[in-house]
Amino acid sequence: MSQNPNVREAYGIVAPTSRNPALRRLKSAQNTPSIHGNKLWGACYLMMEYLEHAPLPQGARVLDAGCGWGLSGIYCAKHFDAQVTAMDADPAVFPYLQLLAEQNGVAITNHAARFDELTVDDLSKFDVVIGADICFWDALADDVSNMIDRAIEAGVSKIILTDPQRPPFNALADRCVEEHFAEALQIETEQPRRFTGTALVIENG
Ligand SMILES: C[S@@+](CC[C@H](N)C(=O)[O-])C[C@H]1O[C@@H](n2cnc3c(N)ncnc32)[C@H](O)[C@@H]1O
Repeated sequence: MSQNPNVREAYGIVAPTSRNPALRRLKSAQNTPSIHGNKLWGACYLMMEYLEHAPLPQGARVLDAGCGWGLSGIYCAKHFDAQVTAMDADPAVFPYLQLLAEQNGVAITNHAARFDELTVDDLSKFDVVIGADICFWDALADDVSNMIDRAIEAGVSKIILTDPQRPPFNALADRCVEEHFAEALQIETEQPRRFTGTALVIENG
């Protein structure tokens, strides 16, 4: 565990607490992210829990879609030396992502885009697409679902979404199990505290 009272550590990754001075400075200097990218979400720890048991190949090219503060991608960079692109519709998340990347000693590329803007050609540059808690509105379900279809067409080897089992995600998971032979795994964490949900995993090819 970290000796620094202003960070919490889980899965070998540090994250600032709300009292962290660097985070507080950033919050007072920056626009607040507006599409729910305003904090760390438990699903990023569900992603780490899944990846602890199913590690990625070293150096994998990873897209963290709807990255928010980016802790899932930071985990991949730290543990698998992954080349991570963190993508989000809301550029206001990127200063937080870069602060957390710096606190974890990794470099992450960020890219502002919506799920529906990623083309097959864009997605073909990645081995793995991950997304933690990115299907939280009914209106997002088609965009996430179509992005998955394009990622499969692009030859992305593995797609992993984690979620606390929100209804739009559950419907998406059912479709992916039916159409893409996805696995929907029940998953829970003990650190930094208990989170429960699903890891939806599509192996492509
Ligand atoms: C609930 S947060 C999860 C953030 C992060 N993955 C985590 O686990 O902490 C959802 C994220 O999706 C982003 N988002 C929402 N709609 C999006 C879209 N259409 N395209 C890309 N990102 C989007 C939001 O800006 C936000 O950062």
